[in-house]
Amino acid sequence: MSADTSSTTSPTQAGGPDASGAAAPDKPKLTLYGGTGTGRRVTVRDLARAKRDGEKWAMLTAYDAVTAGVFDEAGIPVLLVGDSAGNNHLGYENTVPVTVDQLVMLAGAVVRGTRRTMVVGDMPFGSYQSSPSQALDTASRFMKEAGCGAVKLEGGRRVLPQVDALVQAGVPVMAHIGLTPQSVNVLGGYRIAGRGDEEAEKLISDAKALQHAGAFAIVLELVPAELAQRVSQELEIPTVGIGAGAGTDAQVLVWTDMAGLTRGGVPKFVKQYADLRTVLGAAARAFASDVVSGVYPDESHSYH
Ligand code: KIV
Repeated sequence: MSADTSSTTSPTQAGGPDASGAAAPDKPKLTLYGGTGTGRRVTVRDLARAKRDGEKWAMLTAYDAVTAGVFDEAGIPVLLVGDSAGNNHLGYENTVPVTVDQLVMLAGAVVRGTRRTMVVGDMPFGSYQSSPSQALDTASRFMKEAGCGAVKLEGGRRVLPQVDALVQAGVPVMAHIGLTPQSVNVLGGYRIAGRGDEEAEKLISDAKALQHAGAFAIVLELVPAELAQRVSQELEIPTVGIGAGAGTDAQVLVWTDMAGLTRGGVPKFVKQYADLRTVLGAAARAFASDVVSGVYPDESHSYH
């Protein structure tokens, strides 16, 4: 794992861990969730430390500067500019049509809107599968143009050469196995992955191979809870579950699902923490009604 060179203040100045990784005696121990005061972004070393300490953490998707800023202020340590932007932000049916240009633009906005969170750029379908050098070209755009701290790609053994090339080039890689939505056209839908002994063993072996290739974390999507727990226990790097039960080291949700903005139903694994669709709809209706009736703008909202 690469050394953390992103810090602009010394760890002891910032109240962070000292060189041995221990918290300075007179300073509160930093946590991933909400931990502030380092004056720098969360790094892969912080995530590795959390795994060693058994500290769980939360990741959300983000697709714009404003929302990302809210999540950053809320202390979310990792934001994923997911290709789920396709169906949650850009109006596509799934993630397949999303382009690198689109995600690099959104990722740049998320980086600009945040100060502390690690921003992970999702490499979209067709942007890394051809070769390790294609993967490196795409990852470079996320790192150089958008300012991401890491990239994510989907797949097990088939993307090992890509993961290896990126890590050798100094790009932190988050892997993604289980259900891989970019393969929806082969899978014929979104199905639970890793059911049955053979599939489970393949998933475990993929996870270990990705860890060996240098991935710093692995997303496990739509995987039976017992299997995800076993993978998490057997790996040294953190696992990030989505529809994978409570046994993973971290959890990720698509923010529009989590906040109740998604139209229609959401999968069983989603817990909705707000009802933004109702709140926003009510605000829009109230505004329109005030305009139509002449209530808005009144004197208090006018200049003379
Ligand atoms: O694109 C995305 O939002 C993702 C998460 C579901 C992990 O890949």
